[in-house]
Amino acid sequence: MYSVPKLKSFTEAALDKAVEKLLAALKEEASAIKTEAEWKTFRDRWMARKNGVLTEINDLWLKAAPKEAKREVGQRVNQLKALVEEAVAKAEDLPAHGSAADSPKAATDSLDVTLPGNRRPLGSEHPVIKTMHEIVSVFRNLGYSVEEGPVIETDYYNFEALNFPPNHPARDTQDTLFISNQESKPQRERLLLRTHTSPVQIRTMEKMKPPVRIVIPGKVHRNDPPDASHSPMFHQVEGLAVDTNITFCDLKGTLDHAMKVLFGSSVKTSFRPSFFPFTEPSAEMMVSCFICGGSGKRGSEPCRPCKQTGWIEILGCGMVDPNVYGFVDYDPKKVSGFAFGMGADRIAILKYGVDDIQLFFNGDVRFLEQFG
Ligand code: PHE
Repeated sequence: MYSVPKLKSFTEAALDKAVEKLLAALKEEASAIKTEAEWKTFRDRWMARKNGVLTEINDLWLKAAPKEAKREVGQRVNQLKALVEEAVAKAEDLPAHGSAADSPKAATDSLDVTLPGNRRPLGSEHPVIKTMHEIVSVFRNLGYSVEEGPVIETDYYNFEALNFPPNHPARDTQDTLFISNQESKPQRERLLLRTHTSPVQIRTMEKMKPPVRIVIPGKVHRNDPPDASHSPMFHQVEGLAVDTNITFCDLKGTLDHAMKVLFGSSVKTSFRPSFFPFTEPSAEMMVSCFICGGSGKRGSEPCRPCKQTGWIEILGCGMVDPNVYGFVDYDPKKVSGFAFGMGADRIAILKYGVDDIQLFFNGDVRFLEQFG
C-alpha cells in the first residue's frame, strides 16, 4: 500500500514524479472500493487529520521543503488536496458499490419519507427582551417612535450634554466602567460603557426638531458587583417627550397610564422628589405593589417585593432641565418636555416573580424556556 515518501530532492522533476505516484495510488485505491465501510477507510486513510496522507504530505513535503522550494511545493500540495477531496467525494457516489444497503449512496436513496423529521427546538424571546418589547409597545401605542444608540459612548453624551459637568459629584452615582487608554483624548471624547440610555435623548434631539416623542430601549453597564438584584450589565427603557406646553401633569398622566397597562388597571402611582442633573424638577415614581395590593402583607407574611411598604420604586423621571436644551440647540423659552427611565430587568423580575437577576444572564435553558 502507498505510503508518503520523504523527498530527497525538491526539483520540479522530483516533485512531478512524487505527485504522479501519489495520484496513481489514489486512483487505484478509489476504484477498489465496494462497500460503505471500505469507503470510510479510504476517506480516513487519505483525509484524517492525524496520519492521513494529506497531513503526511504537509509534514514530509511542505514543512521539510527548503525555503526556495516552499512556494512550488505549497502549490502542489494544495492541488493534491483538491484532487484527493474530489476523489473521496466521487467514490462515495460510485454505483459499483456492493449490495444496495451497503452503499452510502443507497442509504440516502432508500430514505423513508414517512418517518417524522428531525425536530429542532424552537427558540423563544428572552424574558428581559420580551419585557422591553412590552414596555416599548405601550409607548408606541401612544404615538412614540423608537430610537437606539451606541452602548460604547463618549463622556460628552453620557455626562456633559446631560448637564453633568466635568468633576461634578453627580457623576459618582453612575458607577461608570471606563474604556482604558483614553487619557490622550480631550475629556469629552473619552469612551465609556454608557451607564444609562439617556445619552440617546441628546443624540435624538441633535438630529430632530421638536416635537419629539421617543422611547429608547437598550443595554447599559455599571460597576456593580453581581448579586441577586444587581448585574454589571442590565437594560433600560427611556422615554422623552418635548413639545410646546408640556407639563408635569403630562408626565404623570403618561406614566400612570403606562403602569396600568403593564401591571394591571388597579395599580396606583406616586411621585417623590429626587435628583437627576438633566431633569428639573426630578422624581422617583413608585407603583403600588401589585403582589400584595399595596397592603405590605401577604396573609400573615410580610410582602417581600415591596419590603412591606406597599410601594415599589419603578423609575426615575422629571421635566427636561433647560440647560440640556442649550446643548442641542432647542429654545428653552419655546419648548418644554419630560423624560423618564426604567430598569427593564427589574420590571421583568417583578412581573415574573424571579428572585435573582443572575438567572436572566447565566444562560441556563431550563430557566429561560419557561418564558416561551
Ligand atoms: N438615566 C437615569 C438613571 O439611569 C434615569 C432617568 C431617565 C431619570 C430620564 C430622569 C429622566 O438613573
